[in-house]
Amino acid sequence: MLGGKVIVVSGGARGMGAAHVRRLAEEGARVHFGDIEDDLGEKLCATLTSEGLDVVFHHLDVTDSESWQRIMTAVDESDSRVDALVNNAGILDMAGLDDATEHTWRRTIDVNQTSVFLGTKAALPLLRRSQSPSIINVSSIFGLVGGTGYIAYTASKGAVSTMTKSMAFTYGPEGVRCNSIHPGYIQTPMLDKELGELPAGSVETIHEQIPLRRFARADEVSEVVVFLASDRSSYVSGAEIVIDGGLLAGR
Ligand SMILES: NC(=O)c1ccc[n+]([C@@H]2O[C@H](COP(=O)([O-])OP(=O)(O)OC[C@H]3O[C@@H](n4cnc5c(N)ncnc54)[C@H](O)[C@@H]3O)[C@@H](O)[C@H]2O)c1
Repeated sequence: MLGGKVIVVSGGARGMGAAHVRRLAEEGARVHFGDIEDDLGEKLCATLTSEGLDVVFHHLDVTDSESWQRIMTAVDESDSRVDALVNNAGILDMAGLDDATEHTWRRTIDVNQTSVFLGTKAALPLLRRSQSPSIINVSSIFGLVGGTGYIAYTASKGAVSTMTKSMAFTYGPEGVRCNSIHPGYIQTPMLDKELGELPAGSVETIHEQIPLRRFARADEVSEVVVFLASDRSSYVSGAEIVIDGGLLAGR
């Protein structure tokens, strides 16, 4: 579905990002992925390359504009364009106002929100060279509704949702599509950490709130990313796509 496409994924070394890198490459794309976790990224790159997939790992700190510039320069030199950008890198901060500090607030906004500004700004000249450019921003159900605590996280993910709509509006006339995805509870190292901080029995309680009664596998989200990166979603732009097993449907 993605043969010939050049795709950039941030935060691709593990979790959902790693699943996206694999599925996008399995569908025929050449996937450049970046992460601060160099060892994990190199290892994943070696594994996927040994399976015959076309992937390239780059060191990338999404909070640093120069780091974004370096990855885009490398992609420009090898492929001259970007067909899809997946702004996936993120961190979780469960703290509410009482426990959040100015430092944790700024860090969360930097990694989850400013990264989308920096990354998309750096990619835009290369996206403009694509026949069918697509930007996929990873928000969360917490970009649509609040939670107990999560003050910086909800702020950052809500911003990603509205930034996506502004990008869709601004660049739509040039043919650039931009959508946000809103995962619910997805089995990744991030969710493991979150569950580790919740009281015993929380997994069962959350499962009962989800109509499909389970958490998702990361690759179930990747299928939506593949669709949004592909030309099969050619008229989908400015959308908020919720992937939560029905969790928000009853709210
Ligand atoms: N897991 C969930 O249930 C869930 C739900 C909703 C949204 N999300 C969002 O999905 C995205 C992926 O989450 P995940 O669950 O796979 O998390 P994860 O922690 O398993 O993976 C996140 C990846 O981002 C990378 N990263 C963190 N800071 C970075 C930085 N400064 N520069 C570059 N890379 C950086 C990490 O090294 C890691 O590889 C995040 O944006 C997250 O907020 C996750």
